[in-house]
Formats: sequence, structure tokens, C-alpha cells
Amino acid sequence: MKTEIKTNQKQAILITGASTGIGYATALYLDKKGYKVFASVRKEADKLKLIHAASSNLTTVMMDVCDEEAVNKAYQQIITETEGFTFSLVNNAGVSLNGPLEILPFADIKMLMNVNVCGLLSVTKTFLPLIRNTKGRIVNISSGHGLLAIPDKSVYAASKFAVQAISDSLRVELKPFGVNVSNIVVGKINTNVLDKILDDRKKMINQAKPETAKLYSTQMEYFDREVKSLPGIEAVEVAKVIADSISNAKPKAQYLVGPGAKKMKMLARFPQAMRDNMLYKAIYK
Ligand SMILES: NC(=O)c1ccc[n+]([C@@H]2O[C@H](COP(=O)([O-])OP(=O)(O)OC[C@H]3O[C@@H](n4cnc5c(N)ncnc54)[C@H](OP(=O)(O)O)[C@@H]3O)[C@@H](O)[C@H]2O)c1
Repeated sequence: MKTEIKTNQKQAILITGASTGIGYATALYLDKKGYKVFASVRKEADKLKLIHAASSNLTTVMMDVCDEEAVNKAYQQIITETEGFTFSLVNNAGVSLNGPLEILPFADIKMLMNVNVCGLLSVTKTFLPLIRNTKGRIVNISSGHGLLAIPDKSVYAASKFAVQAISDSLRVELKPFGVNVSNIVVGKINTNVLDKILDDRKKMINQAKPETAKLYSTQMEYFDREVKSLPGIEAVEVAKVIADSISNAKPKAQYLVGPGAKKMKMLARFPQAMRDNMLYKAIYK
């Protein structure tokens, strides 16, 4: 049974990557629930879209999670506007990158690690004094690929395993201060990211040496079919789980949302040799 925190303390929350998808749905959902929401975006048009859709209580913050100066500026802005509030952070901003390592451009690999891992660490580190002083919470958005690494996802999975590791470390590191840390394992949610995966794949193949791309064509076609065939759920379903993770008196360390997350958790329990064999057969049968 769900037990909400009984407190008169007002709740403020920063959601990174709130321009679209899960971040956007969560910003609006929590705004409707009466939280003081700080929604981070990178473009003026996304700021205006949020302002138009939300109540006047929601504040947009211009912040690229990889830009330390912007993160510090956001901290200075938010700290002055959250006196008397419990402050929590949802690390949602993230990018996806799929493909065999041999044809992934290294610039894209570095960019993904920068956003999904370094950006998350930078925002968390910067906002920790505020979170710790107010006994707020940290909610990290991970993926089924943070539980099970499969071909075509070596880079993305590495970043989401890192998110899982960061959540596990911080959960105990911050326990003495009353800060709870939850990891939300997500997959598959109907957001822009799914179209981006297919578009990026086409671009990557066009840029690769044709003979190298051909070596991996069976594998890439298999994973493209997977992206299209697995039914997704709406982003608001993740928003509801995030709301639980910040309002429940006993938040879980790990939440699973969406069919992909449950499937990955189940497959990760199989012995490794059996898992490798099953994957190999599924792709090359
Ligand atoms: N959809 C799924 O099935 C799924 C599955 C597993 C995990 N996830 C995770 O869920 C999270 C949200 O993804 P989504 O599906 O909602 O995708 P999305 O619609 O593409 O949203 C990604 C968000 O991250 C922001 N972002 C990207 N790079 C950034 C940066 N350097 N600084 C600040 N913000 C940045 C984007 O902002 P811009 O618009 O400015 O680029 C956007 O707001 C990600 O961490 C993703 O890995 C999603």
C-alpha cells in the first residue's frame, strides 16, 4: 500500500531534460500535483512550450547538463527560490546511441558518455548541498539496458550501467543524511527517442564503410525490428512512478516501468552462457 510522506514541508523538484518525452510529461504531471517544478530545457521554443502548457508555478531553467557554468547558474537561481522547500532532483536528460562499436563515430560515443554519465554526475554533485540540507531525494532515470547489456547497445548500456552504479553508491553514501536515491529502469516508452534511434541508424550506416556496415546488417536489422515491434507505454506512466518515488514514505531502490524493463530484468537473471546463446540464436537463427 502506498504511504505518502506526511509533512507540511513544500516540495520543489528539478527535472533535467524536460523539453520532450518523459521529462516533459513528468514536469506537467508534478506541476498539476502542486509541486514547485523547475524544468530544464536547452531551447527557447521548448521553454515557451512548457510555459504555455503548465501553471504559473512552473519555472523553466536553461541548462545543458554538460555545461558546468550553466549548471552552477541554475543552482544559484534555484537555491534562492526554494527557501522552506524540500528539494529533489530527477536526472532524466539522456541520449541514445545504438549500433555496432566498429561503426559508431567516436565523437558520438564521447557525447553520449558526457550527457548520460558526466552530466548526471555534474548536476547531482552541484545540487547535493541543497538536496542534503533539505533531506530531498535523487531519482535517476536508467534503462533496461542498465540491467542487461546486449549487442548493438555497448555504449548506451555502459552509460546506463553507470547510472545504476551511481544510484547504488549514492543510496548508501547519502543514507546518513536522510537522502533517498531511486533508480527508475525504463523501457519501452513512446517518446521521440524511438524515432531518433531509427533515423540515427540510417545516418550511421551512410557514414560507415559499406563493407563494414554489411558485416553487421543482420544484427542491425534484428534490433530495428525489435524497436518497432515491442509495444510501448505512454510517458505519463513514468511520471506517475517518479511521483511515487519522491512522495512515498518508503521509496524503492529500483522501479521497473514498461515492458522492455521487465523483459530485461527477467533475462538478466539467466546464467550468462545461456543468455549469450539465446541472444545469438535470436539474432542469427
Ligand atoms: N523512451 C524509452 O523507451 C526509454 C527507455 C530507456 C531509458 N530511457 C531514458 O529516459 C530518459 C528520457 O528519454 P526520453 O525517452 O524521454 O527521450 P527524449 O524525448 O529524447 O528526451 C530526452 C531529453 O534529454 C534532453 N537532453 C539531451 N541532451 C541533453 C543535454 N546535454 N543537456 C540537457 N538535456 C539534454 C533532451 O533535450 P533536447 O530536446 O534539448 O535535446 C530531452 O529533453 C533518458 O535518460 C533515456 O535514456 C528512455
